Amino acid sequence: MIKGVIFDLDGVLVSTDEMHFAAWKLLAEELGITNFTKEDNKLQKGVSRMESLEVVLRKSDKLYSEAEKLAFAMRKNNYYIELLQDLTPDAVLADVIETLEMLRNRGIAIAVGSASKNTPMILEKTGLKPYIDQVSCGLDTTKSKPDPEVFIIAAEKINLPNEECLVVEDSAAGIVAAKAAHMKSLGVGPEYKQLGADYESLTLLSEVDWDKILQG
Ligand code: BG6
Ligand code: MG
Repeated sequence: MIKGVIFDLDGVLVSTDEMHFAAWKLLAEELGITNFTKEDNKLQKGVSRMESLEVVLRKSDKLYSEAEKLAFAMRKNNYYIELLQDLTPDAVLADVIETLEMLRNRGIAIAVGSASKNTPMILEKTGLKPYIDQVSCGLDTTKSKPDPEVFIIAAEKINLPNEECLVVEDSAAGIVAAKAAHMKSLGVGPEYKQLGADYESLTLLSEVDWDKILQG
């Protein structure tokens, strides 16, 4: 039986993955990398800020020191935060609120499990905060997906054994992390077919067969 659902944030609950891409693209161009594409961006999904930076720097022939890399990551985050200032409840993806309400009405605990250190600000600005019981994010973890740490912490926070949790993810790293935590997984988003999740859906979250999934 599934008693808790842990949602990834970027690309699952909110459309902030577009803003991540725009901010990385801007940094890449400033570093003389003109061929940073959406295809490269797929490799950044679910992984930490510093690992996402490595995906950008792989396209450069220059070598940078750790201090320079930290400065680049900070610069990207500043661009990203600038974009987040315009974030409103409109950024919440289709059917998310209805699904969160339905799960809560069924007594399911709801958590967020995200690599993003900007999670609290995003939940606040999009109005999602009241729908979420617990948050586990980049501010809580030392390792990033595909390591299961972020989901294990989420399960601890909602007081459930890992086996009673379902992870909803749009990234391959996140699905690997869910499996490593012995949690069931639902793959969503444009690449849902390639994620290797237990259940898959490109359609609206409310059209998922929740009866079947929650029976685990
Ligand atoms: C994940 C995104 O949710 O958060 C990654 O999919 C991002 O692309 C990561 O790098 C870290 O986010 P932030 O907001 O802490 O830089
Ligand atoms: Mg995501």
